[in-house]
Amino acid sequence: MAKIKIRRFHSKREPQEVVQEWEVEDGATLLEGLSSIKCEKDPTLTFRSGCRSGVCGSCSVRVNSKEVLACVYKPEDGDLVEPRRFSNVVKDLVVDEEKSLGTLKSAKAWLGACKEGAVVEPEDEKRTVKQSDCILCISCYSACPVYETNSSFLGPFALTRQWRYVADPREAEVKEKIDAVQQNGVWDCTLCGECTLVCPQGIDPKGDILMLRSKSAQFGYSDPNMGSFGSFGLDF
Ligand code: SF4
Ligand code: SF4
Ligand code: FES
Repeated sequence: MAKIKIRRFHSKREPQEVVQEWEVEDGATLLEGLSSIKCEKDPTLTFRSGCRSGVCGSCSVRVNSKEVLACVYKPEDGDLVEPRRFSNVVKDLVVDEEKSLGTLKSAKAWLGACKEGAVVEPEDEKRTVKQSDCILCISCYSACPVYETNSSFLGPFALTRQWRYVADPREAEVKEKIDAVQQNGVWDCTLCGECTLVCPQGIDPKGDILMLRSKSAQFGYSDPNMGSFGSFGLDF
């Protein structure tokens, strides 16, 4: 058996946040462990799941400060399981996804006007196939350190999806898409790569943000932070 700790939250309980220790079967996935706690020991334990096979993205949580899919991860002795960061906790391991999913709308991350007669060649498809694998597990959002200081940041999965449509030859409104990711967008990313490290689908949001930066430069945009770097020590 492995002993794991679970950080739990309930708005009507005092204290609202507690860390409880439970035993789970060796070799079982974290989701199987959570399910057995719920069925056999504490029916109030609350978590989210769907496909149970790493496809739907609904079961993502943080284990020892790293985002994982509970239906894939196998717990080890001493693990601390917590809800994802930067979203309000509804109860225990379930968070409210309204704000994180709202970044897709803020970034206008969808196919806008379609170019008449545009053809998607196999090469074009190859460029955007990976980003289309996103299962919206929101792990990258939780891992992104920018949210510690800027809660309005568009964030990794919205920017990755935006690049997917910017790179689509059918998109007729590329300029509008690039305009939409200037404020709280591509230039706010620190390029730390945490989003890329945690993505269970092998998507590279950091790389896609770099592509969006490069496309932004083609439309005349530049990094607004560069001006302040250049002025250090020049106020005489
Ligand atoms: S690379 Fe950018 S988007 Fe990804 S986690 Fe780091 S700061 Fe956030
Ligand atoms: S980019 Fe990866 S980590 Fe981020 S939401 Fe999509 S699948 Fe999850
Ligand atoms: S339950 Fe669907 S990805 Fe884990």
